[in-house]
Amino acid sequence: MSRIASDTYRSKVMSAEEAAKLIKNGDRVGFSGFTGSGYPKVLPEALAAEIKAAHDRGDEFQIASYTGASTAPEHDGALAAVDGISMRMPYQSDPVMRNKINAGTSEYYDVHLSHSGPQVRQGFWGDLDVAVVEVAAINADGTAIPSSSVGNNNVYLETAKKIILEVNAWQSVDLEGMHDIYSMKLPGENVAIPINAAGDRIGSKYYDIDWSRVAAVIETDAEDRNSPFKPLDQESKTIAENLLDFLGNEVKQGRMPKNLLPMQSGVGNIANAVLVGLNEGPFEQLTSYTEVIQDGMVDMIDSGKLLVASATAFSLSPEAAAKMNDNAKKYREHIVLRPQEVSNNPEVIRRLGVVSCNGMIEADIYGNVNSTHIMGSRMQNGIGGSGDFTRNAYISCFVSPSLAKNGDISAIVPMVSHHDHTEHDVQVIITEQGLADLRGLSPKQRAKVIIENCAHPDYREALLEYVARAAKVANGAHTPHDLATSHEWHRRFLETGSMKG
Ligand code: COA
Repeated sequence: MSRIASDTYRSKVMSAEEAAKLIKNGDRVGFSGFTGSGYPKVLPEALAAEIKAAHDRGDEFQIASYTGASTAPEHDGALAAVDGISMRMPYQSDPVMRNKINAGTSEYYDVHLSHSGPQVRQGFWGDLDVAVVEVAAINADGTAIPSSSVGNNNVYLETAKKIILEVNAWQSVDLEGMHDIYSMKLPGENVAIPINAAGDRIGSKYYDIDWSRVAAVIETDAEDRNSPFKPLDQESKTIAENLLDFLGNEVKQGRMPKNLLPMQSGVGNIANAVLVGLNEGPFEQLTSYTEVIQDGMVDMIDSGKLLVASATAFSLSPEAAAKMNDNAKKYREHIVLRPQEVSNNPEVIRRLGVVSCNGMIEADIYGNVNSTHIMGSRMQNGIGGSGDFTRNAYISCFVSPSLAKNGDISAIVPMVSHHDHTEHDVQVIITEQGLADLRGLSPKQRAKVIIENCAHPDYREALLEYVARAAKVANGAHTPHDLATSHEWHRRFLETGSMKG
């Protein structure tokens, strides 16, 4: 049965190939898609074919591609492979896209996820030419049921000159009612966002679409790109245990209620390990105000430990995605999917007292964190929502193994090679070695606990030597650095393949 209940919308059904011809060289395109969920499944590959044909003819054809966050090989990967993207924003994690950014053939603007949609609405990015948005169904009145991510879709649908919809029959229609579509306005018109608890609903279940701008409707039934999580290794389990002990102590000290505060958990395997640990741990009646729903959260809903989770997208393994599709009716009682300008909104995060936990590439001895760049220059993924949550959290945590690349890299370094989260925002650093609680500590005090508790023993002595040298040569005793050698470890790795001296 068709998922398009409106005759008007049915009259615009066409193939992805026909719809792709509506996009032109130089267009700014706002796509749906967030961590492999809810991205358009067929239009990007059809567009990539158009772009390739134009390049083969010797014609210029590139678009600016804006999304919610990362998408999939058949979206970012396909467009990047044909050099079809002049500018990409915000978060991405596709290997082909990443290579184009690092080769300098695509520009990339790495912006906080909560800022990305509002910046488009504010006109900072010029006029948006096209919105390409996946939906689960179109209702008879022309409203649409969102699919497995919301991201910036509300903004792109509101602002684009032309709208292309992909109606995906793989997505469960029982997602209806899980979403809460609330759009912010321009500065001066905004009011306080009335969310006082993670599960509060303040908007509509549907996208309200301006029919006059709908240029094409495409029907698909393709799956989201759902990647399996790695089996939990001992390192991830230990990191998760360190965090859980810390939370338990916060409860004991009276700084957090017994059911904790709304948890935010970042992307990746360690974040998922933390959720598994929470599911097995002593805390009950938990809530989550976060960005993505991972497998661990679905399991916690099943076990009754997690009452409610607010996010903007799913980031599930294929098994968990199948379970979600089969049981969306049940899960929609516990999950709210919102636009990312709301899921990641600093105002709400601060009000609720969210406890954030994100992965990092490296931290330095003073507590600055690099989440994005390898050895200072190479983009890995992007800052995503880590800044939205870290800066505004009640307690902000970062997690990482203490070593990378078989021990040739220390995740704790004298000075980070790129700053995403400053010492002013980072409160807790956790590795498999232990946990550094940085609250209330001066830079020199922080260096001591980070080195003692978090650095791998192979690098501790060298870090202490740096601290001693910096104390001698620095031009001030507050945050002592030896600028001549502060990035020597990174330089050595690039030259020799190891940070070890
Ligand atoms: N130096 C160099 N490379 C490093 C490194 C370091 N200090 N630490 C990790 N890496 C490499 C890993 O070896 C791995 O390389 P590979 O892809 O060649 O195998 C890669 O970086 C990813 O590391 P991994 O251990 O798989 O980490 P992860 O999946 O936990 O991701 C981040 C870590 C930081 C990349 C990831 O959390 C991220 O993108 N964060 C920013 C966005 C964010 O926090 N979003 C959540 C907000 S809601």
